[in-house]
Amino acid sequence: MMQISFKLNDKAVTVDVEPRLHLADCLREVLRQTGTHLGCEHGVCGACTVIIDGEAVRSCLVLAVQAEGSAVVTVEGLSNDDALTPLQTAFRKHHALQCGFCTPGMLTTAHALLTKEPDADADRSRTVLAGNLCRCTGYIPIVEAVLEARAAYRNKP
Ligand code: FES
Ligand code: FES
Repeated sequence: MMQISFKLNDKAVTVDVEPRLHLADCLREVLRQTGTHLGCEHGVCGACTVIIDGEAVRSCLVLAVQAEGSAVVTVEGLSNDDALTPLQTAFRKHHALQCGFCTPGMLTTAHALLTKEPDADADRSRTVLAGNLCRCTGYIPIVEAVLEARAAYRNKP
């Protein structure tokens, strides 16, 4: 076992983990943050995407020990209260989710994109979201939702 410390959704956490444990399992099984979903577990589907130090990362491809000292944001950390965020509101308005399995990965990927590039156009959004698979929506409403949410990211101080 190894002890690691990192920030999870703005709170300091310290956990004992096996060196082989990947971050997604650490988040779900050890820290009980089950918003991060696991689909393929080998870097293909994007369902497990979290944000590490501002970058969208597949948590099934990262060992938990690699998170030492970093700031990890999961889908639970995108909202601090009961109100929907502008990104969530846009997803609901555009019916950008059906079963919702891919949605945590879509939201974290889109949030990381719009935080850095609030003017991302449809082509850029499609390119960035291309690594996130959705079996339900056909992707068009997801891109529409991301484009609509841009205004909220542009207005952030
Ligand atoms: S579960 Fe990580 S990319 Fe599919
Ligand atoms: S909403 Fe079902 S997989 Fe995307």
